[in-house]
Amino acid sequence: MKVISVVGARPQLVKLAPIAAAFSDTPHEHVIVHTGQHYDADLSDVFFSGLGIPDPDVHLGVGSGGHGEQTGAVLAAMDKVLESEKPDWVLVYGDTNSTVAGALSAVKLHYRVAHLEAGLRSFNRRMPEEHNRVLTDHAADLLLAPTEEAMRHLGNEGLAHRSTLVGDVMVDVCLRIRDAVLAGEHPRPSLPEGIDADAPYLVSTLHRPDNTDDPERLAAIIGSLAALPVPVALLAHPRLVARAEQHGIDLNQGAVRVGRPLPYAGLVGAVLGSAGVVTDSGGLQKEAFLLGRACTTVRPETEWVETLEDGWNHLVPDPHETPDFTELAVRPAPETPRGTPYGDGNAAVRAVQAIVEA
Ligand code: UD1
Repeated sequence: MKVISVVGARPQLVKLAPIAAAFSDTPHEHVIVHTGQHYDADLSDVFFSGLGIPDPDVHLGVGSGGHGEQTGAVLAAMDKVLESEKPDWVLVYGDTNSTVAGALSAVKLHYRVAHLEAGLRSFNRRMPEEHNRVLTDHAADLLLAPTEEAMRHLGNEGLAHRSTLVGDVMVDVCLRIRDAVLAGEHPRPSLPEGIDADAPYLVSTLHRPDNTDDPERLAAIIGSLAALPVPVALLAHPRLVARAEQHGIDLNQGAVRVGRPLPYAGLVGAVLGSAGVVTDSGGLQKEAFLLGRACTTVRPETEWVETLEDGWNHLVPDPHETPDFTELAVRPAPETPRGTPYGDGNAAVRAVQAIVEA
């Protein structure tokens, strides 16, 4: 059997790592297509080298662009790839423009599509990810769900017969890297200048268009971070840097120290060394939970509702209008046990098995 993985953005590379490893233990052929949605070394190459992922077999090189331009470029480029590779399955990941384009290109040419991380919903139609994931789920033949909640959403949309619960592959990779970091197998992360790794600090990321694209809102959010009583290591996504520059907003103010995005082991090390996380990233909310740090999420909702239980994660859509933002951001991690809502760390093997047996 031949399976093509279509990936393009940073979080998909993290999910690809355990899937590629699981395929390598089978006789099946696994072909990696990188769309090129993310192209900076910080967002792409370091994940291949750091997580031991084989180099992409095909690189589409689409780069950045508006939604239509980027999605359309992947869609157009995939025709040739599918015609020459003739896969048994096309596997798409998560909810980016590369995901929906990969899925659509395959169904149109009658190739079977599996969607990893199916069934997540924010019910917020302003988010590009929400369109991408809903459309991908309805196009796909096999829906590999990470959580019971995702299975419920798929059932509510009449997709139960195509859905299977495999768990979350992010657990596979996050726990493996955590153990390696704790065993001293990775160098200490390069935190932004001005952050003392041995004193309390928060890890922060912001990249959602709803937080970065409106100048007033971005300035207000950065202002709230700047006023925190502990240093904030802001690991800045290029989108954030680009928008801040465009709007004339200085990210390096008050408590905020700006640094580059970290490789995966660096991020895990940074979170393990931190007093907590403030983010709008889906992946980081879950990584904080898995690594036992309190998370404050700058969004009105989350797809990962399990993290909200017992206050491990707290939603603060508007930090600048939330009088107790400071107390929330610096609150200690809860002492309650977290359970394993995201599975046992063997999701990738189960996902590969589900594809092979479907
Ligand atoms: C994309 C995904 C988002 C995911 C995120 C993870 C979509 C619609 N969004 O958002 O779901 O959470 O990846 O990081 O697919 N840029 C660079 N270098 C790069 C890539 C991007 O400088 O390698 C800059 C460019 O200015 C670009 C901007 O970042 O225009 C946005 O990149 P894009 O891929 O459109 O979306 P992300 O914000 O990264």
